[in-house]
Amino acid sequence: MDDPRSLVLYGVLAFLMVASLRRAFHNPKLDAIPIVRSSKLAGNYWDAYNFPVNGLNLIKAGYAQYPEGIFRVARLFRWMFIVSSPKLVKEIGDAPETVLSFHGGVELNFPIKLLIGPAVAENHYHVHTIRTNLTRNLHACFPDVKDEITDAFGDVVQLQGSEWKSLPMLPTTMAIVARVSNRLFVGLPLCRDRTYLQNNVQFALDIMRSRRKMDWFPYFLRPLVAPLICDKDKTIAVALKALSPLIEERLSKEKELGPDYAGKPNDLISWLLEDAEEKERNAPSLVLRILLSNFAAIHTTSMAFTQAMFDLTTRLEHLLPMREEADRVIAQEGWTKTALNSMFKIDSFLRESQRMNNNLAAAMVRKVVAKDGFMFSDGTVLPEGSMVCAAARPIHYDSSIHENATEFDGFRFARERAEHGATQDLNQVIFKRQMISTGPDHLAFGTGKHACPGRFFAATELKAMLAHVVMNYDLKAEMEGVRPPDAVSGLAISPNATAMVQFRKRIDL
Ligand code: HEM
Repeated sequence: MDDPRSLVLYGVLAFLMVASLRRAFHNPKLDAIPIVRSSKLAGNYWDAYNFPVNGLNLIKAGYAQYPEGIFRVARLFRWMFIVSSPKLVKEIGDAPETVLSFHGGVELNFPIKLLIGPAVAENHYHVHTIRTNLTRNLHACFPDVKDEITDAFGDVVQLQGSEWKSLPMLPTTMAIVARVSNRLFVGLPLCRDRTYLQNNVQFALDIMRSRRKMDWFPYFLRPLVAPLICDKDKTIAVALKALSPLIEERLSKEKELGPDYAGKPNDLISWLLEDAEEKERNAPSLVLRILLSNFAAIHTTSMAFTQAMFDLTTRLEHLLPMREEADRVIAQEGWTKTALNSMFKIDSFLRESQRMNNNLAAAMVRKVVAKDGFMFSDGTVLPEGSMVCAAARPIHYDSSIHENATEFDGFRFARERAEHGATQDLNQVIFKRQMISTGPDHLAFGTGKHACPGRFFAATELKAMLAHVVMNYDLKAEMEGVRPPDAVSGLAISPNATAMVQFRKRIDL
């Protein structure tokens, strides 16, 4: 600070930040859209600065005041427009990429181009691979997924005799989900390699930390500061070392024996190679896709399972009915992917847990990219460049949409499937209440054109894991009846990272 040049630099930066904030918040064309503030005295600057702490409260307050419409809250360097009514949420989900851009929204909220690199931000072929090849292969790969679940729980939980053992739920789940996901992504033995798995988790943590730092800079400065902030090179190097031999071997076998050689492994590496353009068919490019797939899969699925375990251990009356269901279905149908379709209670329990604990206060972030802006059916116009999203958490807690919405009712969707199934078009109703089905009133996976393409895998994995747990373990909460509080930061709502759950080998009384 003694150097006068530093003072000048900090002064210029402070000036640029204030100028960017002023410019972002001043737009008379938006006057018709209500602003939600934390208090009458609070200014937009304070709310924008304090969004990581108070964002969820602002979104809840906005939804309570404008349940049918659109409101805005201040974020650093821009307004965030939030849509309340499911009717308008559907319009977000249905809008084409050239009007409301999913990728533009990602860049505003999570600048992948700067955090990871332009190749993955500009070419999204891995999304297509997940939507098509990965999902299609879930039946064929289910025995591997199940095998990995059994093995991973055995290794990670490690119970002796009939004693209770306390386990930190989120890290335990993360270790298991990382293994199970990578059984499908890269196969054995790499999916059990601790250094490789830990590196995938570290990659996600580094990227999220870099992104939080980036939030403090105005958009136009971000490309300049990105190289100083972004922490990705080390984890990419570790992943490259682990994956290169596998990828090189696949490429040379293809060259020698053709693309469909006998014994070609059925995993994400092979599926990506089928879809990749020539310039992407090399180890460094594929490694980024695999890291990105891990990033999309591991934290989301681990958080969902951890929340389900907290729900189960605070509402233990659900355990025996799910155990009975899993025992019965597997005795009748075998331990197959098809058997999962008959586990209505387990499916319903996970859907209900996602309803109450979806990991985003507001989801489906989009950027308006149409030159003339975007007009909702209620007449509200958002200008080009605006950031818009859906009030996911308040919609999930709205009692005019879900009966007794603030109450956890693990089997509500199983009941709805049973009740409505008798009177309406069976397939239609059953489909609507499944864990994988999305809609403007159920946004855990988003809805519309960009609804999560990995949800079929996530649901298979989560259902098989929950069935395995209820069939093999007795459970209880660390403190009876107390659900560990979530951690909230801005839009992100995460399960408690240190809370424990107690496990014991199943004892049938
Ligand atoms: C419980 C687990 C998961 C949750 C809650 C979840 C949630 C989401 C959400 C909310 C979105 C954005 C939807 C939107 O903005 O409209 C999304 C997108 C995405 N998810 Fe998931 N996800 C999960 C698991 C997975 C898994 C296992 C994979 C990969 C195998 C995956 C891959 C992706 C990808 C690639 C996208 C971007 C889609 C696109 O570009 O159109 N997700 N996910």
